[in-house]
Amino acid sequence: FGESTTTAAPPVAELHLHIEGTLQPELIFALAERNAIELPYADLDELRARYEFTDLQSFLDLYYANMAVLRTEQDFADMTRAYLARAAAGGVRHVEVMMDPQAHISRGVALETCVNGVASALATSVGEFGVSTLLIAAFLRDMSEESALEVLDQLLAMKAPIAGIGLDSAEVGNPPSKFERLYRRAAEAGLRRIAHAGEEGPASYVYEALDLLGAERIDHGIRCMEDPALVERLVAEQVPLTVCPLSNVRLRAVDTLADHPLPAMLAAGLNVSVNSDDPAYFGGYVDDNFEQLVAVHGLSVGDRARLAANSVRSSFADEARKAELL
Ligand code: HPA
Ligand code: ZN
Repeated sequence: FGESTTTAAPPVAELHLHIEGTLQPELIFALAERNAIELPYADLDELRARYEFTDLQSFLDLYYANMAVLRTEQDFADMTRAYLARAAAGGVRHVEVMMDPQAHISRGVALETCVNGVASALATSVGEFGVSTLLIAAFLRDMSEESALEVLDQLLAMKAPIAGIGLDSAEVGNPPSKFERLYRRAAEAGLRRIAHAGEEGPASYVYEALDLLGAERIDHGIRCMEDPALVERLVAEQVPLTVCPLSNVRLRAVDTLADHPLPAMLAAGLNVSVNSDDPAYFGGYVDDNFEQLVAVHGLSVGDRARLAANSVRSSFADEARKAELL
């Protein structure tokens, strides 16, 4: 597979990206200083020492704590612009950015502040970085459906520039069935629907996301591999699964990258793509994920082209943009 590393990477769409998960340690310190916020870490090394996760929750604890430095529209815009620049350098040409409004409202940041900050950076992304973008509001599944419904209504009332909704945070014990009304309301509002399922949670959550929420795309979905009937259905319907290999290793969903099911998923005919999830926390952006897959699994040029094409086809970009990228 020597040629894999010398052939130019095809354009790729990033479909599974939490913007708050792009907050790099250096930016955390810079924003803390700008906002006169005292961090519980003396320096960068002390912060970086916390990036050893044992499961999803251990990551979420740090991820939510670090958001404390995001106070102003400018903070959200700076974080977003830094991600777009880095993603573009790694070959990303289209991105569907998730953000977690409830994580900001609950600590006293106005919905307008977080949404407008992220959206303002996305609005200039094509011109600045050659990256087309869509914004997805993700809801925290460990909070109530009432809270999610309230925030969705506020987003609709303010005509927030969102293309769809997602579902993230602590999965086990918070099944998709908890959010049926939320997804029905989003569908009625003409929004696209995605959901995390089958990351730490069981294969049954993937069925629920499809059948109860009408999810058009599944974030992660790796645990489908435990259920052959589910794999058969996902293949038949070509349901997009946005897989995040480095994330799965860092959150111990798989032991090592060598044990990652991505090659088996490709071989099974599943519609998988490669994504970074929370690149500042998991050791890499989309290009880093591809590079390590090539190194560990010998991902071929053909596999790589197929993964890139899957990402573009599975995006919510308009047909003209898809055609440009395919
Ligand atoms: N899983 C669930 N929730 C999340 C993640 C994730 O990987 N990243 C940010 N919120
Ligand atoms: Zn995620």
